Amino acid sequence: MDSQSGCSLPIIYQPFDANEESHWQDRGSLFDYLFSTEGAGKRLLDFGPGDGWPSLIVAPFVDEVVGVDGSLHRVEICAENARRMGISNVRFIWVKPGTPLPFQNNSFDGVMAASSIEQTPDPKATLQELYRILRSGGHLRIGYEDLGRYRNNQEQEAHLDKIDDHMCWLTLYDRHIDQEFARMYRIAFSLPNEKVIKFFLENGDSLSFDLITIPLLEKAFPSITETLLCSLTHPSGKTFVPWLKEIGFREVVPSHSGAWFAEQLFAQYSEGTRPSDIDTIDSILRSLVKIVVQMAAPINENPMITAIK
Ligand SMILES: C[S@@+](CC[C@H](N)C(=O)[O-])C[C@H]1O[C@@H](n2cnc3c(N)ncnc32)[C@H](O)[C@@H]1O
Repeated sequence: MDSQSGCSLPIIYQPFDANEESHWQDRGSLFDYLFSTEGAGKRLLDFGPGDGWPSLIVAPFVDEVVGVDGSLHRVEICAENARRMGISNVRFIWVKPGTPLPFQNNSFDGVMAASSIEQTPDPKATLQELYRILRSGGHLRIGYEDLGRYRNNQEQEAHLDKIDDHMCWLTLYDRHIDQEFARMYRIAFSLPNEKVIKFFLENGDSLSFDLITIPLLEKAFPSITETLLCSLTHPSGKTFVPWLKEIGFREVVPSHSGAWFAEQLFAQYSEGTRPSDIDTIDSILRSLVKIVVQMAAPINENPMITAIK
């Protein structure tokens, strides 16, 4: 995958468009990570940057950003995006998942982690590493995928993605929300999409998790070329907070996010009244997000979390 985000990221892949709610959210996130890490003019770590997010949008506001990712391919994509954007105060480093980070103790002023801690083999051990490399008084800001959003009918899902005319991937998600873990299965077929759909739809009218049974998979076995199983722990806010305290962070604050606030603000403007240039939008968001990220949010809504060492 050359772009993990499907090239949908504003600034990194698309020109800023003030009519797009997601572009406002992106600017809200930028100021969120900047202010909640107290990062302005400092040295930040971005853990698991994917396509370079938020490293590449935050970099113009700080001294230095180091992005560390467990995928070599992602590191190359991030570095290429930085080159294309002419950003020189950011560098990206590969780290083998599950191994210590290649940094000395107390070496960063702040750490940003966007949907990445829950992707690691041991999220609690990852937090311990982030604590180690953060300087005393430094801030860690965590955004995470909340499994609760899949409650009521999306706990189990099946998707088919065409690779080319002769090959496709079937992806199955099996989410155990209250137990805070998820399994993802990927199965590659050397068959066109339509054939795979027809094969599993013998007993139904749309592809669903329940239709992918063991007997059918056994029947399809000769056309299966590759399989992958990924089991991930998905801590909720209720789990992250006690973990962070146990690790030693002196203050842990679940708070509202800049992206959420920017989304609310976008909706307040009617068509035609909304500011249309990024500088005006930034100046509005900059002052307000600084306050919003300090406002405590209910833990059962799985807010973003700031932890101070
Ligand atoms: C869901 S993506 C999020 C990417 C980006 N932060 C964003 O929000 O668009 C998770 C990222 O974490 C990285 N990752 C997963 N396990 C990791 C590990 N053990 N160490 C470092 N990065 C890891 C993945 O390679 C991927 O780039």
